[in-house]
Amino acid sequence: MDKPLIDVKDLKISFHSAQRSHDAVRGVSFTIGREKVGIVGESGSGKSLTGRSLLKLTPKGAEINATHMRFKDTDLLAASEKEMRKIRGNYISMILQDPKYSLNPLMRIGQQIVEAYRLHHKAPTAEAKGKALAMLEAVQIRDPERVFKLFPHEVSGGMGQRIMIAMMLIPEPDLIIADEPTSALDVTVRRQVLTILDELVTRRGTGLMFISHDLNLVASFCDRVLVMNAGRIMEDLPACELHNACHPYTRSLLESLPRLDVAVDDLKVPVRDPSWLDGPVFRNGVLA
Ligand SMILES: Nc1ncnc2c1ncn2[C@@H]1O[C@H](COP(=O)(O)OP(=O)(O)O)[C@@H](O)[C@H]1O
Ligand SMILES: [Mg+2]
Repeated sequence: MDKPLIDVKDLKISFHSAQRSHDAVRGVSFTIGREKVGIVGESGSGKSLTGRSLLKLTPKGAEINATHMRFKDTDLLAASEKEMRKIRGNYISMILQDPKYSLNPLMRIGQQIVEAYRLHHKAPTAEAKGKALAMLEAVQIRDPERVFKLFPHEVSGGMGQRIMIAMMLIPEPDLIIADEPTSALDVTVRRQVLTILDELVTRRGTGLMFISHDLNLVASFCDRVLVMNAGRIMEDLPACELHNACHPYTRSLLESLPRLDVAVDDLKVPVRDPSWLDGPVFRNGVLA
C-alpha cells in the first residue's frame, strides 16, 4: 500500500482546569490514505477533536499527546505555527457544518474563492477569476458569473455549502476534513452536495475524513469507517461491512437506528460498557 497521508498513533487529547482533568480522546490510532474515511459515533465521542487535532485547531486549553502524528513526512506534533499555516488550506482543508461561520459575510463570494486560490498560486487576477468561475461550475452552480458577485447571506444553505467545497478544493489539497458537512441541510440537498463532493475528491484522488453521526450515510458514502465511543476507536472496518460489524458497541448503534420496515414500541438506546474503553479494537472484523 502507498504511504498513508495521515498516520496517527495513540493520540490523546485532554483538558485541564484547576479543579479537574478530562480525557476527551483516549488513545486513538488510525491512518488515512487517498480514500474516504468516515468517523462515526455519538455526540461527544471525540470525533471533532480528533479531526481538528490534525490541523492543530483544537480549542484553547486542549493538550495533545501522541506517539506520532504525521502528515506525509511532516511531524505534526513538532510543526511550528508557521508550518501549520502552510499546511492548512494548502495541503489539508476543513469543511465545517455551517458555511455561515466559515465564509466572510462582508466579502463577495467570488472574491473569497479568488483569494483562496491566490494564497497558494501566484496568478494574475484574470486567471484566478477564471479558476474561481470554473470551480463554481464544478460544484454545479448554474450561473457562476451571477453567484460570483453575491454576498454569503444571499445564497441558500445548500449553495453555501457547495461554495465552501469549491473554496476548499481550489488549492487542490491532499486531504479534506469534513465535519458534519451536510447536517444542516435538508435531505434532498444533502444528497446533491455529497454527490458533488464525492465526484470531486474521487476524480482528484483527494483523501477525505468524513465526520458524521449518521451510520447509514457513512456506510453508503465512505470506503472505510472508524467507530468512536468515549474518546476511543472501537472498530475500524470497510464501509461495506458496517452492517456486519463485530463490536458490541457498533452493533448497538446499528440496532438503535430507526427503521421504516418494522414497527417498534421503543427505540433502543446504544449501550455502553465501561470495559470496552480499555478493551481491544476490532480492525477488519478481527481483534487487534
Ligand atoms: N473546549 C472544550 N473544553 C473542555 N472539554 C471539551 C472542549 N471541547 C470538547 N470537549 C470535550 O471533548 C468531548 C468530545 O468533543 P467532540 O470532539 O467535539 O465530540 P463529537 O465531535 O464527537 O461530538 C466532549 O464531550 C467534551 O467533553
Ligand atoms: Mg463534533
